[in-house]
Amino acid sequence: MATYLITGANRGIGYEFCRQLQARGETAIAVCRRAAEDLQQLGVQVEEGIDITSDASVAELRNRLEDRVIDVLINNAGILKRVTLENLDFDSIREQFEVNALGALRVTHALLPNLKAGSKIVLMTSRMGRPKAA
Ligand SMILES: NC(=O)c1ccc[n+]([C@@H]2O[C@H](COP(=O)([O-])OP(=O)(O)OC[C@H]3O[C@@H](n4cnc5c(N)ncnc54)[C@H](OP(=O)(O)O)[C@@H]3O)[C@@H](O)[C@H]2O)c1
Repeated sequence: MATYLITGANRGIGYEFCRQLQARGETAIAVCRRAAEDLQQLGVQVEEGIDITSDASVAELRNRLEDRVIDVLINNAGILKRVTLENLDFDSIREQFEVNALGALRVTHALLPNLKAGSKIVLMTSRMGRPKAA
């Protein structure tokens, strides 16, 4: 059995990762900004108060984990806001890069000491991460 760390575990796909991993006997560490009732009742380890856009917040996560080994790091936290070429919103685009790209990089970099040889890093992608055919 392996230890998984999942960001954005509060709801959606991240929560479902935690639920299914827990059900099959894996160890899930659920990382979120604020734990919803469902997540609190799942019985997994919850690390609350972590915003992946904040260096200090992610450093706090690293401190809490101490020397815990993570076998699979799932960078799942993300946002999707619709922006079109005709209706550009640079602030929104910056925010999405900050969470989706730099946030995942920040978490991965901070938790490198918790990864061992053979550990896996998962990057959840989205429509923001690939060009759309015209
Ligand atoms: N749903 C789809 O069809 C789909 C398709 C392709 C890819 N994806 C990707 O899969 C991932 C999960 O999608 P989802 O549908 O489950 O999304 P979701 O329901 O909107 O959940 C997103 C999660 O990310 C967290 N999050 C957002 N900003 C954060 C931040 N700054 N710091 C920490 N956590 C943050 C949210 O936390 P809060 O609860 O605190 O807001 C939430 O737990 C995303 O990366 C998304 O791009 C989804």
